Amino acid sequence: MFDAQSKDLERLGRIGRRRALHPRAGADFASNDYLGLAESARLREAVADALARGVPVGSGGSRLLRGNHAEHEALETEAAAFLGSEAALYFSSGFAANATLLATLPQRGDLIVHDALIHASAHEGMRLARAESVGVAHKDAQAVDEAIARWRRAGGRGTAWIAVESLYSMDGDRAPLDDLADVAARHDAVLLIDEAHATGVFGPDGRGLGAGLEGQANVVTLRTCGKALGCEGALVCGPQVVIDHLVNRGRGFIFSTAPSPLMAAAVRASLKILADAPERRTALSQLVRDAEVLLAPLGVRATGSQILPLVLGEDRRTMEVAQALQVRGFDVRGIRPPTVPEGTARLRISLTLNVDRGQVAALAEALREALG
Ligand SMILES: Cc1ncc(COP(=O)(O)O)c(C=O)c1O
Repeated sequence: MFDAQSKDLERLGRIGRRRALHPRAGADFASNDYLGLAESARLREAVADALARGVPVGSGGSRLLRGNHAEHEALETEAAAFLGSEAALYFSSGFAANATLLATLPQRGDLIVHDALIHASAHEGMRLARAESVGVAHKDAQAVDEAIARWRRAGGRGTAWIAVESLYSMDGDRAPLDDLADVAARHDAVLLIDEAHATGVFGPDGRGLGAGLEGQANVVTLRTCGKALGCEGALVCGPQVVIDHLVNRGRGFIFSTAPSPLMAAAVRASLKILADAPERRTALSQLVRDAEVLLAPLGVRATGSQILPLVLGEDRRTMEVAQALQVRGFDVRGIRPPTVPEGTARLRISLTLNVDRGQVAALAEALREALG
């Protein structure tokens, strides 16, 4: 039994790409808990309060059946008001939300134009979508423009959908959102902005890099709740018609048990923290500035964000350097293809409020030794 699977695993081992789960250990330079909220007293209290109010642990069913709870609805109302969209919908994960969005909203005869480095969850949705899709060069608004124009010239009549991340998860760089919004307006296209890594960190009140676009009739955003918000799940924000369509047609929403109402209560508390604790964002941006100075001599490129990649290129070397850092007590992970393009294996140094400047300085020293 399972010969094909065993062979596949052997092959991954031979090429140095076999993965395994390890317990968490060492200083956190790997999580996406950017604001240090996941283990914060405020979120623990929010969950304890919710339990005391009688909020159930499990939802008991899908939202369209018995699983819909007042906590989900309160979260969606508050999220839409805070983030500036007409409506919002809470999914159990960002992966499910992104895949469902892309599989559901674009129709047959439409075109999805996506950035070359878009997340695997978007690819999953596009694999299931009825619309055709095309990738364009990273962060290239003109390439998006040309792809749509080419499709129109060839007779494309449907709607064009532009799928990007506002802050790229493995590179820490930003999409040219204003230019993309112009392209979208020119072509009557919809702009799908995955704000997974920007929500909580950038924009007014941490509302993301596309905060100024939220609320436009042709903009849909995804806000994952498991990163800076320190919780779990994801909010899709956009026009009411989009949310209603997902409720009616989104298989990843309809045929799935609703997220825990306790988690919805925790996300509600996180959104309040974004609004009333700007000092967390200030502390993170100071840490980013310090880290850029400390790590620059080692070849770590400043990105102006909390995600600092050090591209080493070769898979094996990347994993060896990551392991050398882990042995020294620094949880830095190596990222290999297919998560990143061939030949660009890298250390992904993620900065969070779970570490301080002293730990970043110690990491810089350890990295100097590990790089040899
Ligand atoms: C850009 C991006 N979108 C979506 C997701 C999926 O979110 P989740 O982890 O909540 O499933 C991730 C998570 O890694 C991500 O980096």
